[in-house]
Amino acid sequence: MSEAVHPVPEGFNARIGKTELDALNAVAAADPHRHWMDQASRLDWYRFPEQSGDWSFDEDDFHINWYADGQLNLSVNCLDRNLEKHGDRTAIIFEADEPGEGRTLTYRELYEETCRFANLLKQRGIRRGNRVMIYMPMIPEAAAAMLACARIGAIHSVVFGGFSPESLAGRIADCDACAVITADEGVRGGKVIPLKRNVDAALQKRDVEHVIVVTRTGADVPMKEGRDVSYSAVRDSLPTECEAEVMDAEDPLFILYTSGSTGKPKGVVHTTGGYSVWAATTFDWLFDYRENDIFWCTADVGWITGHTYVVYGPLMNGATSVMFDGVPNYPDFGRFWDTVDRLGVTIFYTAPTAIRALMREGDEPVKRHSRKSIRLLGTVGEPINPEAWEWYWRVVGDGRCPIVDTWWQTETGAALISPLPGATPLKPGSATQPLPGIQAMLVDAEGKELHGAASGNLCITASWPGQMRTVWNDHRRFFETYFTTYRGKYFTGDGCRRDEDGYYWITGRVDDVINVSGHRVGTAEVESALVAHHLVAEAAVVGFPHEIKGQAIHAYVTLNAGEEGSEELRAKLVQEVRREIGALAAPERIQFAPALPKTRSGKIMRRILRKIAEGETSGFGDISTLADPTVVDQLVAGAREFQ
Ligand code: PRX
Repeated sequence: MSEAVHPVPEGFNARIGKTELDALNAVAAADPHRHWMDQASRLDWYRFPEQSGDWSFDEDDFHINWYADGQLNLSVNCLDRNLEKHGDRTAIIFEADEPGEGRTLTYRELYEETCRFANLLKQRGIRRGNRVMIYMPMIPEAAAAMLACARIGAIHSVVFGGFSPESLAGRIADCDACAVITADEGVRGGKVIPLKRNVDAALQKRDVEHVIVVTRTGADVPMKEGRDVSYSAVRDSLPTECEAEVMDAEDPLFILYTSGSTGKPKGVVHTTGGYSVWAATTFDWLFDYRENDIFWCTADVGWITGHTYVVYGPLMNGATSVMFDGVPNYPDFGRFWDTVDRLGVTIFYTAPTAIRALMREGDEPVKRHSRKSIRLLGTVGEPINPEAWEWYWRVVGDGRCPIVDTWWQTETGAALISPLPGATPLKPGSATQPLPGIQAMLVDAEGKELHGAASGNLCITASWPGQMRTVWNDHRRFFETYFTTYRGKYFTGDGCRRDEDGYYWITGRVDDVINVSGHRVGTAEVESALVAHHLVAEAAVVGFPHEIKGQAIHAYVTLNAGEEGSEELRAKLVQEVRREIGALAAPERIQFAPALPKTRSGKIMRRILRKIAEGETSGFGDISTLADPTVVDQLVAGAREFQ
């Protein structure tokens, strides 16, 4: 791994320099309560809390509360309080799929749009605590819909538009949603995404009382009388004021489904006070935001990154945030930089997978555009290899922009390990150090703390405000998933190395989660989609390193006795996964296998499958515990076609 150190670029004068960061760390260490209350004071509260964190990760007394006696409303913090100061400032710049198409909304306009939406939800009888699904393109109405839910205290659950109707139906059922907000269609990379049609298909399995359809393309979509309402048709009749609900800090704010190593996706629950404080704080720390900056996080609102750093973090800080509804390679590989120049983007935050895809196209599509407005770069979602980091630094940033490599998870609400751009010397490929107040620990397989330079599993030992509070409807699963591997600690599921300077290098998931292009895919979900096919007896999927995607999916499939694998069947199985989950979970490879390597007690040895998918042909360690060790040779032979 590269150990080159890049100091803070000369001339990058951030609000938080080394002195300020040291001071923050000193307060966090000496007086955590004060540290967390200082951060809470960034927000407007109806009732300012006296309590900060009150938590225990121990089974007997397991609980997590932050600012529990405080009351606030997140939409008020994003909108109303900015209105008073600068209502005419641009809140959202919408950049549509076609370059230059789109529009901007000022804080006042976003406030009014949000209030309209909130009033429509209320007219429909939707109330505090109800669950509302949002299945939308990256259009300003998606942000307004989220903010409207927050305003009336409804709990939103955004589902990425690339998920299948099956997945949407599963999530609707899991959280018992009463409404879906969607658009007629989405458009991405020149292709139409039939959102309303997908919603209708999902609702065949699990209906809701209300469907609100925003017009994006104007396509003629079927509307069900009584259930479906066109937002555009009623918009102008809706009042542009809507009083906000006074929420308790621990009231659920949103549910976001994410894949784990077992079973169906989990509904990660974030609550109002803690999430808001941590999103606002980290946006401020990480991105050195100043007036006149234009901030562009390329993530979709269907992921946590979109929640925290497209919508809530920027808006709470009064920032101008770009909502991008396109893809990096449409109409060509210069799209990001064309957009940066056109909009004057100053802070640019994207995923390593996008950087690697662009790097492969060479420097020309970047250099063709000036990018002179950019002053700060960021990455998120997966480990960034030092080569891609150096390219981002040298070619995109012209060697003058810090890169913040921000490590975090859906569960953490916002970043936990990241450089501060004006304070932290950078090492390519390292997320550097925990943020002030975050207590990271490396442990070995037995849970013993590792000190100094070491490699182990990454745990967080003290709660932070943005920590998830529960798995929707399954508090036991929350405790068991995160707090039982290493008692008394939150286990992230990531492996990590810490170097002699105390820098953290995330090495990736150590559980059965595959990170495909920065998107979490659970092996169990893909396996269950594969075995749903009537010819499939068994399936096991693992991740393998992929040049662009970081990791891709290798599926081992055993067919029923007497059945033969074929290209046609491969295509059908991939189709099956797309239909069940969505395109992002489609296996890159399907290997028909005579059998899977199992122990005598029937446990599949994934360790071996992973090695074979990585192209190894020997050195599988002890295979004597396998019920049939000859399986390994057959699998190695079968994997040759992929190498
Ligand atoms: O493995 C880590 C990886 O992404 C996982 C979390 O995925 P998700 O909940 O979908 O959230 C992604 C966006 C925050 C982590 O467990 N990951 C995320 N950021 C980084 C990362 N791995 C290395 N470096 C990062 N900066």
